Amino acid sequence: MNIAVLGAQWGDEGKGKIVDMLTPRFSAVARYQGGHNAGHTVYVRGTKFVLHLIPSGILHPGVTCIIGNGVVISPQALFDEIDELARLGVTVDGRLLISEKAHVILPYHRELDVLSEARRGERRIGTTSRGIGPAYEDKIGRRGIRICDLLGDQEALAGEVRENVSARNHIIKDSTLDWQPVFRDLVTFGERVRPWVGDVSLFLAQMFREGRPVMFEGAQATLLDIDHGTYPFVTSSNASVGGICTGLGVPPRAIGGVLGVAKAYTTRVGEGPLPTELSGALADRLRESGQEYGASTGRPRRCGWYDAVVVRYSARINGLDALALTKLDVLDGLPEVQLCTGYQTPQGLLTEFPADLRLLVDARPVYETMPGWSTPSRGMTRMDRLPTEARRYIERLEEVSGVECAIVSTGSDRDETIVAPGSVAAKWLSV
Ligand code: IMP
Repeated sequence: MNIAVLGAQWGDEGKGKIVDMLTPRFSAVARYQGGHNAGHTVYVRGTKFVLHLIPSGILHPGVTCIIGNGVVISPQALFDEIDELARLGVTVDGRLLISEKAHVILPYHRELDVLSEARRGERRIGTTSRGIGPAYEDKIGRRGIRICDLLGDQEALAGEVRENVSARNHIIKDSTLDWQPVFRDLVTFGERVRPWVGDVSLFLAQMFREGRPVMFEGAQATLLDIDHGTYPFVTSSNASVGGICTGLGVPPRAIGGVLGVAKAYTTRVGEGPLPTELSGALADRLRESGQEYGASTGRPRRCGWYDAVVVRYSARINGLDALALTKLDVLDGLPEVQLCTGYQTPQGLLTEFPADLRLLVDARPVYETMPGWSTPSRGMTRMDRLPTEARRYIERLEEVSGVECAIVSTGSDRDETIVAPGSVAAKWLSV
């Protein structure tokens, strides 16, 4: 069975670890959206790996890693990552497949990203400044450069680059960027990337026919989805389940199960609403014990209590079969923990996540307060060994979120994980 693993909050839920742990059951791991704005940190026997573009499955020999057409690719980031993996003894040869339809992030997309943020001033998104948004703008504006363009007729490519650069010069006042160095770099990139390029949809269809299971790996998360997230404070792609079909060229029935990853609390980087946001000592405590600093940008993450309105919304949008609840151990030692079940607004009580963010401006989270646990959950590998209060917290969290927790992560290492007996995850892992 093919399954999707995706973020149920605002990203950084610890998807990397969950994907990494499930990967041995799969023949391939495929990314379907985003770019090197993502940062997946995984630890293997104490060694830290941060992956931005290549699926975390690459750490498992024999697993094919796929970058779909829905992803935007920075040549520099791709090769930096391949080189870093090689340095750590991991080779991508024969195991990496990149869609010929994926769009390329051009060198000036980053500059446009920074300029666009500066122009927005107070209303800035707080992007990762990686050029992700402008690359998707070019894609939708139908002037983007795709990987297959780099491998074909050079004269045609020169024409496309000239047109793209001229559109860019039009946007940036007094800019006279020369298209030729951009073109030359793209030709060089094309030559290096050529061995890994192919028809991803065709390859996956073949895998499905042969019964070889595939994992679809989300980047960013549902509340950062361009359509279903907290627009405009979102990324520029469909991070939720719908992005799988368009971002890889696979039919909906290829998705056999969906696992949402959520932290036992909530974090967000960048601007935009975070209804349960905490400040002061408690926020600092979560940030420090959870090491809540961006894997891509190093920015401190905003921290707050678990928000069941958000996760229930994600469960609906994605059809979540189960949750992987991460970083439970970060709550160890707190005298009490809180769960948000709704927002009190001047217009009344909200229990569904609103489209219009203005409704959240004066919203107060409605909390259920539960006792914390003084004995640590850290490193636990069995549900029945967890402190009673931690188990109660999980049970209540499942009730208010409307999804079962099939996996609970109690530490950063692969082994510090609980798989709930009889859960869908136990079934997926035993196949
Ligand atoms: P962009 O994707 O760089 O355009 O940034 C848009 C928004 O998504 C910003 O709030 C970023 O902080 C956020 N974002 C992008 N990638 C990630 C991620 O991997 N984790 C968490 N937030 C992200």
